[in-house]
Amino acid sequence: MDAVRNPFAPGAGSQPPELAGREEIITAADTALQRVLLGRPAQSQMLMGLRGVGKTVLLNKIEQLAEEHGYFTSFIEAPEDRKLVDLLYPKIHQVLRKMSVVESAKASTHVAMRALRSFASAFKISVGDFEVSVDPEPGVADSGNLEFDLTELFLKVGDAAKAAGRGWAILIDEVQYLSPDELGALIVAIHRINQKALPVLLFGAGLPAIAALSGDAKSYSERLFIFPKVDALSHDDAAGAIRQPIEDEGETIDENLLEKIVVLTQGYPYFLQEWGYQVWNASERSPITVECIESAGKEALRRLDDGFFKVRIDRLTPKEKEYVIAMAKLGAGPFRSSEVADVLGEKLTTLGPRRAQIIAKGMIYSPAHGDIAFTVPMFDEYLKRHWIKD
Ligand SMILES: Nc1ncnc2c1ncn2[C@@H]1O[C@H](COP(=O)(O)OP(=O)(O)O)[C@@H](O)[C@H]1O
Ligand SMILES: [Mg+2]
Repeated sequence: MDAVRNPFAPGAGSQPPELAGREEIITAADTALQRVLLGRPAQSQMLMGLRGVGKTVLLNKIEQLAEEHGYFTSFIEAPEDRKLVDLLYPKIHQVLRKMSVVESAKASTHVAMRALRSFASAFKISVGDFEVSVDPEPGVADSGNLEFDLTELFLKVGDAAKAAGRGWAILIDEVQYLSPDELGALIVAIHRINQKALPVLLFGAGLPAIAALSGDAKSYSERLFIFPKVDALSHDDAAGAIRQPIEDEGETIDENLLEKIVVLTQGYPYFLQEWGYQVWNASERSPITVECIESAGKEALRRLDDGFFKVRIDRLTPKEKEYVIAMAKLGAGPFRSSEVADVLGEKLTTLGPRRAQIIAKGMIYSPAHGDIAFTVPMFDEYLKRHWIKD
């Protein structure tokens, strides 16, 4: 069928034609955004889920909602090898510039700009194009203690947002790449913001381990945040994610094929988009029927293997690859780390650093103490296809 009209959108962060099965999360975010603007308490949110389930898409959606409610927004992807402050700085600068044109917020924006300037020098942020043309405010946000200074800076920005009669939404993707110090500082800053009833909310997204991570960072994060689980779609939502976009284009799909796609993808959003995309292209005309399944399936797998899966394995060293291959030999997981050690014929303790490295790269995570699992759905099957000889 006409490839130009193909509605499906496989790709990291690509807006899907039908955002299926996420009403609850979206409603909760929308309610929180509106409450905070009224000065009512609301919880920030940390979306948790495996790769390809639609976290980035949700964060984008929440940012859009925030904008519709009149928020200033700052969207950051947590850096894997840089410091959070380096990314925050230009974002906060940009937000303050926007706030400064609101008459009622001129004075408090100026105060916040000075705090930002102090913050930049305390953390030796290379300001480059974002030089702030105000004097620093000595004694504000310049102690060099991230937790302390970030809190002060956020409070000043929150004051300015309030003076502007608006809110500020911070959206941070890939939260698992933040250091414990950075995450801890963010949590403390949000905690203070909450106590002062300032119109600021944080929405984060990351791999499932972030609940444990932020729990370690600050014990009260559980009260401060909700941790919505972003998972594979239910059977009906998965079917709808394929059927609806096709029908919106005035075409139809056979229910048998739909059923097969839901089973093969296990309802994982990324896989659904790839399958939807391929069955559309592989069919001569609508209704799209099971006849296309072989050629479409081959193409879908090829594209996933060369893209989604391959970019992940490519980041591992040979030794790290051996570790995940040993996992795949055991199945889909989760497993005990000791089982993996047995497959490799090595001691659990010797493998500790290697396991930690792979976790730091976001390839595997520990769902419970002593357990280990893939962060990429169906990764074991990929490894069996390409890395394990019978
Ligand atoms: N609710 C959904 N329904 C259908 N497709 C979705 C949904 N959420 C995300 N997708 C699709 O899944 C893929 C991965 O989304 P993304 O947000 O990048 O996932 P993550 O950030 O969790 O890795 C994209 O192609 C996107 O269009
Ligand atoms: Mg993402």
